[in-house]
Amino acid sequence: MVKSSFRLKDGEIPSIGLGTWQLEGKKGLDAIVHAIRGGYKMIDCAFSYWNQELVGRAIKESGVPRSELFIVDKLANTWHTAAEDCLDETLKNLDVDSLDLWLMHWPSSLNHNGNDRKCPRLADDSVDYEKDWDYLKTWETMVEIQRRRPHEVKRIGVANFGIKELERIIQTGVVPEVNQVELHPECNQKLLNEYCDKKGILLVGYSPLGSIGSPLLKNSKLEAIAAKNNASVAQCLLSWGIQSGWPVIPRSSSPERIDQNITLIQLSEDDFRRITEIGAESPKRYINAPWYTFDDH
Ligand SMILES: NC(=O)c1ccc[n+]([C@@H]2O[C@H](COP(=O)([O-])OP(=O)(O)OC[C@H]3O[C@@H](n4cnc5c(N)ncnc54)[C@H](OP(=O)(O)O)[C@@H]3O)[C@@H](O)[C@H]2O)c1
Repeated sequence: MVKSSFRLKDGEIPSIGLGTWQLEGKKGLDAIVHAIRGGYKMIDCAFSYWNQELVGRAIKESGVPRSELFIVDKLANTWHTAAEDCLDETLKNLDVDSLDLWLMHWPSSLNHNGNDRKCPRLADDSVDYEKDWDYLKTWETMVEIQRRRPHEVKRIGVANFGIKELERIIQTGVVPEVNQVELHPECNQKLLNEYCDKKGILLVGYSPLGSIGSPLLKNSKLEAIAAKNNASVAQCLLSWGIQSGWPVIPRSSSPERIDQNITLIQLSEDDFRRITEIGAESPKRYINAPWYTFDDH
């Protein structure tokens, strides 16, 4: 049986969520409605996906009660100094009273008043970071907001944090519930996973298929394992993630693939090990950003 949820300190997080990055327009709306009606309980959103209103509309249109859903959203890099405003906008855009999980999207505070809402730049084209502010202050702000507004922000966590950034924020005494990072067989984050396990932080796997145009989906060795299991490569990758010990949040705009991604299989120990080995042959990270340099682990 594929695990349907993972434990958090005070509840459960579903094993599968729908990623909503780049879901736009009528196709995006229909995809989200289809996913929620088809059984997706977790919806992974972000202020900087600029589609929160669309997601909010889809939640309403699905007819599934809010109480049955697990809504994740993220504080945008350019809003670290205005975190509470970002939260208020988020709740308004999604038209919901609460978030089940609110994440700091990146440990990167960018100029709130800069020349771009996503990645402001200075005259020399370097990234325009917020002056006299860093993610530790942002974490302290999120902790304070969550304490004051626990019914609106049920839990807080982070995304794209490496060990050194986690070490810093943990000094505050408040450990993030979740660290959402890129996770698939080519990016298994072994050291980070071991560290988070010790600290009681659950990893959540983003880009679990290897993101747009993923070579993993065309890997002939993975295709052979998928054929043997009468499944698709995507289903094997997602099952591999959940069997590795983390929830996964694949994104699709296609109703057929959305259905496929929530119908997973139990991999045998041998197939699980083979997929791990195939990934280790060509370690690769598909998501990079100008405002952050990942440590090599
Ligand atoms: N915290 C962060 O910084 C961060 C960063 C990246 C992503 N994320 C989150 O993670 C989610 C997922 O990551 P992602 O969007 O980068 O990539 P992904 O889910 O790994 O892959 C998405 C791509 O795979 C295709 N696809 C989906 N299901 C498929 C299937 N069954 N068979 C074949 N192709 C399939 C999709 O195309 P179709 O639409 O055509 O199906 C799309 O091109 C995002 O949407 C976002 O919510 C978070």
